[in-house]
Amino acid sequence: MPVPASLPFPSRLLSRGATAWFIAATLGQWAFVAFIVLFFGGPVLDGDLAPLNAKPHVTGYVPGDVVGNLQFVGHALLAGLVTFAGAWQLVPALRRRWPTLHRWNGRVFLSVALVVTLTGFYLVWVRGSQLGPASNLSISLNGLLIVVFALLAWRSARVRDFAAHRRHALRAYLLVNGVWFLRIGIMLTGLVLAPLGIKIDYTGAPFILVSFGSWVVPMAVLALYFHAERSHRAGIKIAMGALLWLLALLTLTGSAAAIAFMWWPVL
Ligand code: HEM
Repeated sequence: MPVPASLPFPSRLLSRGATAWFIAATLGQWAFVAFIVLFFGGPVLDGDLAPLNAKPHVTGYVPGDVVGNLQFVGHALLAGLVTFAGAWQLVPALRRRWPTLHRWNGRVFLSVALVVTLTGFYLVWVRGSQLGPASNLSISLNGLLIVVFALLAWRSARVRDFAAHRRHALRAYLLVNGVWFLRIGIMLTGLVLAPLGIKIDYTGAPFILVSFGSWVVPMAVLALYFHAERSHRAGIKIAMGALLWLLALLTLTGSAAAIAFMWWPVL
């Protein structure tokens, strides 16, 4: 949304910082969506899921496990849909000009988010696709919070409490993108640790920290952003605006690294 030039500088910086981060995140999320569509879509259309194991998965395709394979592939493809749908909800012009589209896309986003979360729980706790106790705990807490804030976002929209709806929907959006944050977080951590000769494995401290950080840090940054929006102190708005620009740069860097090292090589 164009920021009115009449707005004082601190508010302008804050608003532009939020927009910059959102654009960087949307580019990175859609690269993730493109990877999901290309990697999972082809084998599904061909009716042969074996090529899915060309990339390391926790469990992946298991011949004969019809229910597990369905959950796995359904989870990944619907994850692509929910990631794609989420960003549109945050575009102010879309909300203003096409409120019906915002409502329907919102219903798709929230209900698909719940399905993806439930299939995720199935994969971890029934199918046994586990990376380790800390990682299981982190993704499960992330999933529980998705359910909580998706339902709160839905309820507050229904009772037309739009201030609460905005807060809960933004939380649900960040939490749903937790797995994407995890991927770009791992990439950024790898860019720092690899030159030091430190490898990231699934049960080591760096992976565990990035796992929890993938949803704790976005929620903390959002809380700071809400605080800066309400604050009358210019310094707080300027600091938050600058932080968001920095996070936009990190998001672009992490996404570019994920495309180069994680997604492109397996397509
Ligand atoms: C709602 C947001 C979520 C999104 C967008 C998402 C996305 C994905 C994607 C794209 C994959 C395929 C991995 C790849 O090929 O890189 C995947 C796998 C997986 N997801 Fe999720 N996920 C979400 C939530 C969850 C939750 C809440 C859980 C657990 C409670 C979970 C558990 C898993 C597991 C265990 C796998 C690995 C399956 C395997 O490799 O065998 N996911 N997820």
